[in-house]
Amino acid sequence: MMEKRISLITVLMSLILCKTFGHTQARHIVFIVADDLGWNDVGFHNPDMITPNIDKLARQGVILNSSYVQPVCSPSRHSWMTGIYPFKAGLQHGAILPQQAVCSPLSMQFFPERLQELGYSTHMIGKWHLGFCNTECTPTRRGFESYLGYYNGMEDFYNKTIINGVDYNDGLKAIPADDRYSTYAYADRAKEIIDNHNQTKQLFLYLPFQSVHIPIEVPKRFEDMYQHIANDDRRKYSGMVSAMDEAIGNVTQALTDKGMIDDTLFIFTADNGGWPGHGGNNYPLRGGKITIFEGGTRAAAFVSGSGIEKKGSTYEGLIHAVDWHPTILSAAGSSNDETINNIDGLDQWKAISTGAESARNEFVYNLDDSLDPVTGHAAIRVGDFKLISGYPGPYRDWYKPEQEIKGSIGVSAQPYDYSAIVYEDLSKSNGIWSGDGLYNLRDDPTEHNDLSKQFPDVVKKLRAKLDEYRKAYVKPNFPKNDDKSDPKYYDGHWAPGWC
Ligand SMILES: *[C@@H]1O[C@H](CO)[C@@H](O)[C@H](O)[C@H]1NC(C)=O
Ligand SMILES: *[C@@H]1O[C@H](CO)[C@@H](O)[C@H](O)[C@H]1NC(C)=O
Ligand SMILES: *[C@@H]1O[C@H](CO)[C@@H](O)[C@H](O)[C@H]1NC(C)=O
Ligand SMILES: *[C@@H]1O[C@H](CO)[C@@H](O)[C@H](O)[C@H]1NC(C)=O
Repeated sequence: MMEKRISLITVLMSLILCKTFGHTQARHIVFIVADDLGWNDVGFHNPDMITPNIDKLARQGVILNSSYVQPVCSPSRHSWMTGIYPFKAGLQHGAILPQQAVCSPLSMQFFPERLQELGYSTHMIGKWHLGFCNTECTPTRRGFESYLGYYNGMEDFYNKTIINGVDYNDGLKAIPADDRYSTYAYADRAKEIIDNHNQTKQLFLYLPFQSVHIPIEVPKRFEDMYQHIANDDRRKYSGMVSAMDEAIGNVTQALTDKGMIDDTLFIFTADNGGWPGHGGNNYPLRGGKITIFEGGTRAAAFVSGSGIEKKGSTYEGLIHAVDWHPTILSAAGSSNDETINNIDGLDQWKAISTGAESARNEFVYNLDDSLDPVTGHAAIRVGDFKLISGYPGPYRDWYKPEQEIKGSIGVSAQPYDYSAIVYEDLSKSNGIWSGDGLYNLRDDPTEHNDLSKQFPDVVKKLRAKLDEYRKAYVKPNFPKNDDKSDPKYYDGHWAPGWC
């Protein structure tokens, strides 16, 4: 009896303390990233996609309708890890290539390091793509207790090989390719982490899937779900999405079985738009991956679960990838005091959990003055207006799901070098990109009507804003390939130790 009373008092005391200090209850956080997933590639945007697990989470949570990312992989991942725009870190030029001695600057703190300080147990499964040439650049040195996955992008889903090396690691240990489709391997690892989780700590699971990037590969049973689709790439790609959906279902099942699901917050986002010509689709948005039109940058995204008050709603407020750093820390109960002044990210936890107004009215899509020095390559959004200054990127049309892209851009460039794709495109377009494009995204979210001639004052104002941001501009860190990276020096693996 006495014991019971004491424990009741303890519970009441902690409830009062929680209220007083504004602490959230213990909250696990699962941050899921889909690679190259298009706006039109999830069931909650497109009824042709078979994604019951994703849709269920999205519809029970808040669908983010204006959540933005960078047009390619490494810059987006850098953005949410550090809360700092890629153009301030030299990462605005493209994805980090396997042989480049580059990593997301070590001077910038990744948010999982802060989560560890808050007492979280932090784990990562999947794609890193934030540099690996030095051990200090790798996941277990940047905030993760454990890591199963790969350092680069675009490897084979089964043999885990890119170019001439295997890229598959458990922590700092290079492991042999297991020839298992990575989506299965990653879902199993997630289940293992959840099953073994000691609930005296909060769990943070970062789950950036290899799905649904090229190469277009999928077990037959998923492809068979889309027999009505004639276009080969689109049929297989759709299957890849459904395989990822099943993996997400398995993760939520593991959390349910462990009794953790009610205390778990899910965040789901694509890292950039779908890749036209490689199965992905962003219709009705314009453009795609590698391009700063909306199709490349407006992400399929939602939040769901613990702490979300306006369940079953759609949130229209602006969110940018840099916001995830302070937003996740805030959801984890941090006051954010130390970081908030030094980063571009804004704490959007209150906004997305309660449906309050977004903390953000503007953001930079990208700022890369080196890409095309003649015409520029930049875009900014302020309120309803978006200014594209100069070259927008290689994909500029409105592509339908089964549309073949004739004379596919980038076929002669190395597929893992996006900047080569861009240079190939630029060399064909003979400097025709010297103008501005101005769009009112409230009236014209699909960017059909360029208003730059009509509203020269708005153009001027947004150009001036971009120039303000330019004051913090850091030149792209995009060196030539370093031969010391060659997997032949590392037992056939891509491995740290050469910078
Ligand atoms: C890995 O699979 C790809 C097919 O996607 C193939 O081209 C490549 O030769 C394979 N590499 C190894 C080392 O088996
Ligand atoms: C999900 O779990 C089921 C049951 O264990 C398993 O058969 C299936 O292969 C898993 N799917 C994925 C994508 O991991
Ligand atoms: C969980 O962690 C607590 C605190 O460190 C420890 O006392 C307990 O034994 C652990 N439980 C298990 C099952 O390992
Ligand atoms: C999402 O935004 C688009 C415009 O970009 C709008 O047409 C649509 O109604 C919004 N969706 C919801 C559910 O509010």
